[in-house]
Amino acid sequence: MLREHRGHRLGLLLKIGNLLWLRDREPHIERLITWNAVSNAHMLAINEAMGYELFDEHKEWRLEIQAGRRPGTLRKEER
Ligand SMILES: CC(C)(COP(=O)(O)OP(=O)(O)OC[C@H]1O[C@@H](n2cnc3c(N)ncnc32)[C@H](O)[C@@H]1OP(=O)(O)O)[C@@H](O)C(=O)NCCC(=O)NCCS
Repeated sequence: MLREHRGHRLGLLLKIGNLLWLRDREPHIERLITWNAVSNAHMLAINEAMGYELFDEHKEWRLEIQAGRRPGTLRKEER
């Protein structure tokens, strides 16, 4: 969301709107799973406000690979 529009609970309203839309169309659904990066405190606060509870955590690793360099190798100056 554009910074100038943050702070008006629009994120929460959007997620609630989605849930109401889903409930109308798929009333048999009993459980929902949502996910977020643990670093995204604002989004986690929205999920908690809606009543979601932590159920699992996944760890992910990212490696930037530079052209011409084998992953996992250190240059002399980095050792
Ligand atoms: C997630 C998001 C939409 C929530 O925004 P929102 O609905 O405006 O959040 P709230 O209205 O609950 O804001 C609560 C407070 O946090 C601030 N805030 C919200 N998101 C913020 C952010 N990303 N960085 C800094 N401050 C933020 C608001 O300004 C507000 O401050 P205030 O209480 O002093 O006014 C918004 O953080 C965002 O667009 N983030 C970047 C994209 C993103 O993370 N998307 C979701 C990916 S899963």
